[in-house]
Amino acid sequence: MILKSIISCFICLTILFAEAKPPKPTILVTGGGGYIGSHTIVELLNDSYSIVVLDNLSNCYAFNATEKPESLKRVEKLTNKNVVFNNIDIRDEKSLDKVFKTYKIGAVIHFAALKSVSESTRKPVEYYDNNVAGTNTLIQAMQNNKVKKLIYSSSATVYGNPQYLPLTENHPTGQNITNPYGRSKYFTEEILKDLSYADSQWKIILLRYFNPVGAHPSGLIGEDPTGIPNNLMPYLSQVAIGRRDHLKIFGSDYPTPDGTGVRDFIHIIDLASGHLRALKKLMDPEFRGCKAYNLGTGKGYSVLDLVKTFEKVSGRRINYQITDRRRGDLATVYADPNLAEKELKWRAERYIEQMCEDTWRWQMQNPNGYHTDEEESN
Ligand code: NAD
Ligand code: WQD
Repeated sequence: MILKSIISCFICLTILFAEAKPPKPTILVTGGGGYIGSHTIVELLNDSYSIVVLDNLSNCYAFNATEKPESLKRVEKLTNKNVVFNNIDIRDEKSLDKVFKTYKIGAVIHFAALKSVSESTRKPVEYYDNNVAGTNTLIQAMQNNKVKKLIYSSSATVYGNPQYLPLTENHPTGQNITNPYGRSKYFTEEILKDLSYADSQWKIILLRYFNPVGAHPSGLIGEDPTGIPNNLMPYLSQVAIGRRDHLKIFGSDYPTPDGTGVRDFIHIIDLASGHLRALKKLMDPEFRGCKAYNLGTGKGYSVLDLVKTFEKVSGRRINYQITDRRRGDLATVYADPNLAEKELKWRAERYIEQMCEDTWRWQMQNPNGYHTDEEESN
């Protein structure tokens, strides 16, 4: 009897203690309806963060402007948790201010940006306005509301043409970047560094992604490019499913083992978990200033390696043709991921086979991405 009472007392205390744990802060996720944002939100929700998303739906599908993007509806289904959604443009300071006044935001993860390299060469002003001026407006709204913790989606593109490999975070940035998109990422990094020098209360992490690919293993969420994909993996998987006739391989005369370009492909779930680790770092009272981390695997695979692996896991033949090099492409790019391992306690775990398997599952289950209508998604 006494033992029973002691045990139940112990259970009550344990429950009370668990309940007394302070709730995790609410995270504002800009561009959360997109590819990387939606996968990151799954990890954040699974780790008990509350999420407020803002997205202007410029590159994610929603049934109409008042509804949540389809990606976020599926995130809710996957996690059984709610995501607050606001259809807001990051350049709209008044609306941003309202969001900060409505929710108690602890930190911001800033994904919202335009990301097509080729489009950026045709519409440079639009890219600088959206990506650079947009970020400036966001940080002004954050500053006005005393929210000074930020994770910024940067890119390996800031390194330009590698002077050495693997790329470490102290490799020079901003030199020989071949397009406005890449420069918009570099300029924004510089603004954020200046901000942290000017005001030591700011805590900023720049995450430099290498080549994110893959999808959630459930096949419920994945990459859903609008129109003809620019990037290799979505193009490859659309060829495999029969939506495109063949893949053009841009050049086979690079100084690489098989002549095709070599990249550091990283599984989207590894990338998403990198954000979780970065957020933990940002919340650490010891963390100061503005710091960049590479999120890559540290291994390079060629375009042909990816094609062959995709053929193996999908059991489909990929038609391809070797064509001229694409302007601005680099021969070999891969990360040194050791700083993230040392300081964020993060390391990519998934292999190229899993990247292809998960992409293929997403593609088979969603041949037209989030659209139900084939016409609309082409
Ligand atoms: P995405 O296009 O899938 O997602 C971006 C989201 O931001 C979209 O849902 C879009 O509607 C939204 N958005 C764009 N401009 C906005 C604005 N002005 N206001 C509000 N919402 C806006 O792209 P992604 O692949 O998820 O990339 C996310 C971030 O990661 C971007 O900043 C991108 O530059 C960066 N990045 C991506 C890659 C990659 O290969 N996917 C590599 C390196 C860096
Ligand atoms: C990879 C390799 C191509 C398509 C871009 C941005 C970078 C980052 C990621 C956002 C290259 C080859 C491609 C095709 C091909 N994005 N390829 N046929 O160019 O490494 O990086 O996306 O920040 O900033 O520049 O990625 O997937 O376009 O190309 O042969 O149809 O595949 O030549 O060698 P990239 P990618």
